[in-house]
Amino acid sequence: MRIIIINGPNLNLLGKREPEVYGSKTFETYFAELQLRFKEITLEYFQSNIEGELIGKIQETGFSYDGIVLNAAAYTHTSVGIGDAVKGIETPVVEVHISNTHKREDFRHVSYISSGAKGVILGFGLQSYDLAIASFL
Ligand code: DQA
Repeated sequence: MRIIIINGPNLNLLGKREPEVYGSKTFETYFAELQLRFKEITLEYFQSNIEGELIGKIQETGFSYDGIVLNAAAYTHTSVGIGDAVKGIETPVVEVHISNTHKREDFRHVSYISSGAKGVILGFGLQSYDLAIASFL
């Protein structure tokens, strides 16, 4: 089984960025732990701060991979293009957020991804990614 985690803008700063919201672990450290926990899965990771690169990766993997775990970060709340990409592919997408976006500012309550996603997992910290991967098993 091949699954890719696609992370959007500013998630490269995990560990440094607003640790009270996102925790103090880097994604690289967490990803290494995930690979140990899910040895039976071929797990890949891609991060970009650029909307078009995220759309490109969704299109590139969206007809051959078994699952996409997508945290589009701030683009979740703004990007019709990423939402359309999710709707246009065959691979199921699980939308993930580290924080509970519904407990935060109103603009974070809107998602352009959810209507095309298989499901949404949010608010469990980095564990949200574990839960999303487990949902494909
Ligand atoms: C986030 C929530 C978004 O609102 C925010 O812009 C992010 C991260 C999360 O994982 O909690 O960058 O997607």
